[in-house]
Order: sequence, then structure tokens, then C-alpha cells
Amino acid sequence: MPKVEIFETRDGSHSLLLPEMNETYHSTHGAVTESLYVFIDKGLKHLLKEQPALKEVNILEVGFGTGLNAWLTAVEAANLGIKVNFVTLEKFPLEKEIWSQLNYAQSESDQKLFKSVHEAKWNSMEKVSQNFSIQKLETDIFEFKPEDMSFDLVYFDAFAPSKQPEMWQPEVLEKMYNALKKSGVFVTYCAQGQFKRDFKSAGFVAEELEGPPGKKEMTRGKK
Ligand SMILES: C[S@@+](CC[C@H](N)C(=O)[O-])C[C@H]1O[C@@H](n2cnc3c(N)ncnc32)[C@H](O)[C@@H]1O
Repeated sequence: MPKVEIFETRDGSHSLLLPEMNETYHSTHGAVTESLYVFIDKGLKHLLKEQPALKEVNILEVGFGTGLNAWLTAVEAANLGIKVNFVTLEKFPLEKEIWSQLNYAQSESDQKLFKSVHEAKWNSMEKVSQNFSIQKLETDIFEFKPEDMSFDLVYFDAFAPSKQPEMWQPEVLEKMYNALKKSGVFVTYCAQGQFKRDFKSAGFVAEELEGPPGKKEMTRGKK
């Protein structure tokens, strides 16, 4: 695992800096603010608005990282009274020494849930609460084959195209498209030009949405 440094973003929540890439895991304007806006509001809540009969949601995340998106989704699944099966890909899992210092969960029950998400075994589907099961796959996205899984929602949370361009290649976007069910939704914080062109070429119907604080736009797509 490459060396990372914990720092505080503008809303007070932690993020990580990867010095060798000079890249952060979240927006410096607010890690929790960004995740709630992009993935929970524009992703999960939007999907449920479009498909109100959906009571069990299969989510695929690219980049488990700090577990922030996974944990926020587990909290929201309980609030919404739905069941979530969350598959997340990570090539470089963080050490406990790092994730255990992150300040996301405030209440005791939230801290317990955050810990359970992190302590769930890698590479098998683990039920961590009544509403939330997680399969953390320690894999490179290029090795991942979503063969017998299909998803309602993709959280695409790779490092920026300027820092890790291979993650945004047409081949990867097509893999995400194929992994989704019909009418499935894809969300990302990114709105870079080449990505948006490749995203449409992969078959998505794309929408440009207002971005979280510090970002003009973000992208959502539908299969
Ligand atoms: C922006 S961070 C993810 C943030 C995360 N969703 C969170 O809530 O903290 C991007 C993640 O992608 C992971 N990653 C980098 N290259 C990868 C690859 N080839 N396959 C899978 N994951 C990769 C990184 O280790 C990092 O954890």
C-alpha cells in the first residue's frame, strides 16, 4: 500500500492525500459533503425516485478507499428501509492504522457500523447490518469480471483522469455499462470532456448536473 497522509477537508471531515500522485481521495472542499451529494443524493436517492418499487438495490463501487461511500450508503439504507448489496473494488486496501483514525462516524452506533464495514472479510459477501451487505473485492478493475452480477447503480469514484487516466478508458466505461441492469444509473464526481465523450460512446444517456461545492459539474448516466 503506498504511503497516505490524513488531512482535514473544509467541512471538517477527513480525507487522504496520496503524495506520490499528488492526489486526494475526496474533494478538499468537504469529503462527507461531496460523498453525500454525488453518491447518496444524485445516485442512490435519484435511483429510488426513478424506481420507487425497488426494495433491494445492487450497487457497484469503483474504489472502496476510506469506506466513506460504503458507510454512508449503509446508514442511508437503514434510513430508507431498503436492502443494499454493495460490491466494491479496491486494488490497494488501507491499513487499519489509517482507517481507524478517520473522523466520519460520530455516534457510537455509526462508529460500530463503520468498523464493521472495514472489518468485513475481503472477497466474500458479508452481512454487516440488517440493511447492508458488502463484498469488498481486492482486485484491479482490469481484472474484475462482473459476469454473474448485475447492478442497479454504479458509484464511479476513481482518482481523477488527470492523475489516473487508465481508469477512465472506454474499455472500463463499457465494462460498467455491461455490469448495469437496463435503466441502471451511473454517477461520478467527474465532468471532464474526454470522459463525457467516451461515456456517451459506451452507450450511456448522460446528464450534466451541478457539482458539489468547489466543482461546477458532475456526471450522471442511465443505461
Ligand atoms: C478516489 S479514491 C476512492 C474513494 C472512496 N470511494 C472513499 O469513499 O473513500 C480511488 C480509489 O481507487 C483505488 N484504485 C486505484 N487504482 C485502482 C485499480 N486499478 N483498480 C481498483 N481500484 C483502484 C485507490 O486505491 C483508491 O482507493
